[in-house]
Amino acid sequence: MPETLDEAREQGFRTDIVSFVRRSGRLNPRQQRAWDEHAAQLVVDVPRAEARTSVDPAYVLDVAATFDREAPLVVEVGSGLGEAVVHAAEATPERDFLAVEVYTPGLAQTVLRATQRGLTNVRLLQANAAEVLTTTLPEGSVDELWVFFPDPWHKARHHKRRLVTPSLAELAARAIRPGGTWRLATDWAEYADQMLEVIGANPSFVNVHGVGAVAPRFEGRVRTSFEGKGHAAGRSITDLEFRRV
Ligand SMILES: C[S@@+](CC[C@H](N)C(=O)[O-])C[C@H]1O[C@@H](n2cnc3c(N)ncnc32)[C@H](O)[C@@H]1O
Repeated sequence: MPETLDEAREQGFRTDIVSFVRRSGRLNPRQQRAWDEHAAQLVVDVPRAEARTSVDPAYVLDVAATFDREAPLVVEVGSGLGEAVVHAAEATPERDFLAVEVYTPGLAQTVLRATQRGLTNVRLLQANAAEVLTTTLPEGSVDELWVFFPDPWHKARHHKRRLVTPSLAELAARAIRPGGTWRLATDWAEYADQMLEVIGANPSFVNVHGVGAVAPRFEGRVRTSFEGKGHAAGRSITDLEFRRV
């Protein structure tokens, strides 16, 4: 193991705090087959930096070339098994969908779902969302940003790992076009409060439903297995909706 930050960087270890942990990347046979057959078309091949899920900061995604057309772009960060993004892509073929996720089996499951439905408006990016919002996506290129059920990191000592922070709000403001939308959902009431606070404090966003208010359930959001787990545990779900001013 590296003993200093410089050694860590040289050995390809990440040195920043991230909102995810490295998990086993084993694919089941169906996921493996889908990945082998379709990842080359659906998973964007990006130049890497420090870690396996980093993107070279000099790289900027050519969105129109990636989707082979110009259409409003929805980006879901932390797309998990791809349930929400694939459902929405099928329901709104006039929009393009980019699923950003670090977990390989989740990405493979998303590839499987998208190809089973013959979708042409879904692409995937295996990368840390913070980096994608910082440099990979062109400024103002995102019509809607979705963050649904981000890991709650509920222990106080882990709160620093949460995805939705003041700095993420800054990055989101850079990536979302003026007039664009940022939707979030969580089954963790105290994380919903944190989201309302940090995004509410960012002058680039207004809460569509009034200061400090929650949104009605977003109709375009299918119920995912993570949401099901929240319901099963008796937690209520909060939706939030902000507009980029
Ligand atoms: C609790 S799951 C929710 C998945 C999905 N949104 C849903 O509602 O079913 C959170 C997901 O976010 C991913 N994730 C966490 N931090 C991330 C980051 N910085 N960049 C990309 N994905 C991330 C995790 O790998 C995990 O799959």
